[in-house]
Amino acid sequence: MERRDFLKVAALSGAAIAVSGIDALAGRDKDIKGEAFVDDKPVREFRYRPDGKFKILQLTDTHYVAGDKRSERALANVIEMLDTERPDLVIHTGDIIFGNPAARSAREILQPIADRGIPFAVALGNHDSDFELTRNEMFEVIRAVPGNINTPAREGLYGCSNDVISLSSSKGVERVFYLFDSGSYIDYRGEKGYDYIRHSQIGWYRNHSEAFTQANGGKPVPSIAFFHIPVREYNDGVRDTGRNMSGYFAEEPCSSKYNSGLVANFKELGDVEAIVCGHDHDDDFVLKFGDMFYIYGRYSGCDTVYNNIGPSGARIFEFTEGKEGFRTYIRKYGSNPEQDLDLHRRMSHLLDGQKKF
Ligand SMILES: [Fe+2]
Repeated sequence: MERRDFLKVAALSGAAIAVSGIDALAGRDKDIKGEAFVDDKPVREFRYRPDGKFKILQLTDTHYVAGDKRSERALANVIEMLDTERPDLVIHTGDIIFGNPAARSAREILQPIADRGIPFAVALGNHDSDFELTRNEMFEVIRAVPGNINTPAREGLYGCSNDVISLSSSKGVERVFYLFDSGSYIDYRGEKGYDYIRHSQIGWYRNHSEAFTQANGGKPVPSIAFFHIPVREYNDGVRDTGRNMSGYFAEEPCSSKYNSGLVANFKELGDVEAIVCGHDHDDDFVLKFGDMFYIYGRYSGCDTVYNNIGPSGARIFEFTEGKEGFRTYIRKYGSNPEQDLDLHRRMSHLLDGQKKF
């Protein structure tokens, strides 16, 4: 039995947003540029803070269970990460909960974000629909938490949590963040495994990507893709003989068995420069493979599931207006930043002086 199968049975700062505060987001969809030229889903627009920075806090795999003592530090971790980093946006890359009561568990672990008035979006994990709520029901519970900016699921587009977030300067869109719903499980005539990003989602991504490129005078807009289950290229990358990575690689990437070509599409369109996943609790690495960064978040949960690389925490992304690439680092519970990296896709070697595993 695979470890994951075993697990399954065992158990704002506000200033940076284009408008101030979360309340101002309500009912704003019609005004959001970019909505009309792609489809009926709005693009969520953000702007840099006045100091030219923008910070995303990535939480992942909180595996929270309301009323379960083993989850207490997960909540404490989320609070510490928010109060220490004071991000402009939180992206949770899934496995938000790990048990019933499902709705209460989701609300409790996300409430600290709402309490601080920070906008947040989620890309659901495989476990989020393992319990008493369907995937759509769980998604709607999350969308009702104040500050959530996920848009409704769309007919014909696989999954629920597929979203586009843009970051603009006064000159226009400088960055795009794509959130994909990487699903839960597949069962193809008895062949079981993890789900993968489907062709409807790839088409949806391509439509947005091409529209952003067109609006940018034909030049692709640097982008980052966030989702829960890693793609096969993570497995290929860790076996690359010239492996170029930083951080913990303590677990084989548990991707789907099937490669639906998402990365090939990223390469063709030339905009996505980094993929950010969760799912594998004992990995928190940054890997450069080709001209793409394959990144894991830092496990943000507690002891409801396996975790073997020390304190939970979060990953942070910091963007600077007009500057190529981005900074990313890990923060662990009760600690200072680690693995502080300044990444840009033209760099050939990212790890001088960094510990390798
Ligand atoms: Fe997980």
